[in-house]
Amino acid sequence: MTDRESIGVIGVGWVGLVTAACLAELGHEVWARDIVSDKIDSLSRGEVPIHEPGLPELVAKNESRLNFTTDMAPVLEHTELLFVCVDTPPTYSGDADLSRVEAVIAELGDSSDHALVMKSTVPVGTGRAIQRRRDALGYVSNPEFLQEGSAVEDFMKPDRVVIGADDGWATFADRVQTLYAPLNAPVVRTDVASAEMIKLASNAFLATKISFINEIANVSEELGADVSEVARGMGLDGRIGPRFLRAGVGFGGSCFPKDVQALKQLAGNTGYHFQLLTAVVEVNELQKRRTIGKLQKHLGSLVGKDIALLGVAFKPNTDDIREATSLVLSGRLAGEGASVRVYDPVAAAKADGMLAGAQICDSVLEAVEDADAAVLVTEWPEFAELDWAEVKRRMRVPLIVDGRNFLDRDALVAAGFTYEGIGR
Ligand code: UGA
Repeated sequence: MTDRESIGVIGVGWVGLVTAACLAELGHEVWARDIVSDKIDSLSRGEVPIHEPGLPELVAKNESRLNFTTDMAPVLEHTELLFVCVDTPPTYSGDADLSRVEAVIAELGDSSDHALVMKSTVPVGTGRAIQRRRDALGYVSNPEFLQEGSAVEDFMKPDRVVIGADDGWATFADRVQTLYAPLNAPVVRTDVASAEMIKLASNAFLATKISFINEIANVSEELGADVSEVARGMGLDGRIGPRFLRAGVGFGGSCFPKDVQALKQLAGNTGYHFQLLTAVVEVNELQKRRTIGKLQKHLGSLVGKDIALLGVAFKPNTDDIREATSLVLSGRLAGEGASVRVYDPVAAAKADGMLAGAQICDSVLEAVEDADAAVLVTEWPEFAELDWAEVKRRMRVPLIVDGRNFLDRDALVAAGFTYEGIGR
């Protein structure tokens, strides 16, 4: 175990709470602060307000080392390293909204005792701009690479830890590095701007990989190849790697769409047109809509048709629906005159009112009752275990569009379904 530090975490959203709980698990005293009092009240009662596997257990186990507060004063009193985990959502122009980061800096007054450890994703150049204005305040960039649904594991077993510090702040950077030492991960020590770019470039590259395989899928459909086989064969090449080569109905979430857009915008601000990322975004938008054509191929006009969407969350093991394909699909289906019913094991309630009038159901069987087609949008494990014979009995037309190539195609065809996958 490392020397025990007392650490501030500012912003107790998903990144902040995972960071706070994991740092507490590593033996540190954590002062976690959020301005939303309901959230702090729940956490103080031991209730975790987000769906993230392993997190409630970690919060409960480390309760004695986790102090939740709405007040900045005790955080500043007890800690020097302040992990900034506030939201940096996109503005209408596509730039990042840094107002929450600025609000944190404003609250620090003219402190020269503290260092910001920036976990929030910020545009390249943000750290340097802050340091120019506030040269007494320490600054370390420490981007996060957590995936929703496996964030605790990703924190505890990272592929790498990136720590960026400019001249003068090596001591704070050393302290941050020491916190991660028990994880035995490779550490990339670099300057602040490069650390900021590593974050954006990593997400943009992964998004590019997905849009690339989605285009291979679309062409494979026309040429008679099976994208799953193609991805398997490509992924064994060590230079390519097997991960993030799953074709599907497009990427969503709070990170890829935002970060690809942010990097494109940053490049644009310097006068550089990042053509590749423009295509990555466009391919993804089209991919989200392609399902409509697949349904029309079998059903003709969708006016008056009943379509079931299985899965609302942008991916399994989360209740997050930001930029989820389900939102686009339900809107497009409503636009085509179809009636939509949706089911999701955890995210449906959050989506209420955002699905273009779709009816939210309590079970798959309710969603598929008399349906003309079912579209698997999110690969929740329970969908692989369904009683498909019963599903078929309930549906008016046994048509399945498997938007994640997740189901057993041969078994479904043998059971009498018409099966449409992605790129196969
Ligand atoms: C992503 C990155 O993977 C994390 O490393 C990063 O820390 C995070 O963004 C962030 O910036 O905070 P996340 O958005 O949680 O994490 O989800 P992913 O598992 O990366 O999936 C993103 C989307 O891509 C999902 O809609 C998923 O269905 C889709 N996807 C993923 C595919 O369509 N195909 C794939 O092969 C992989």
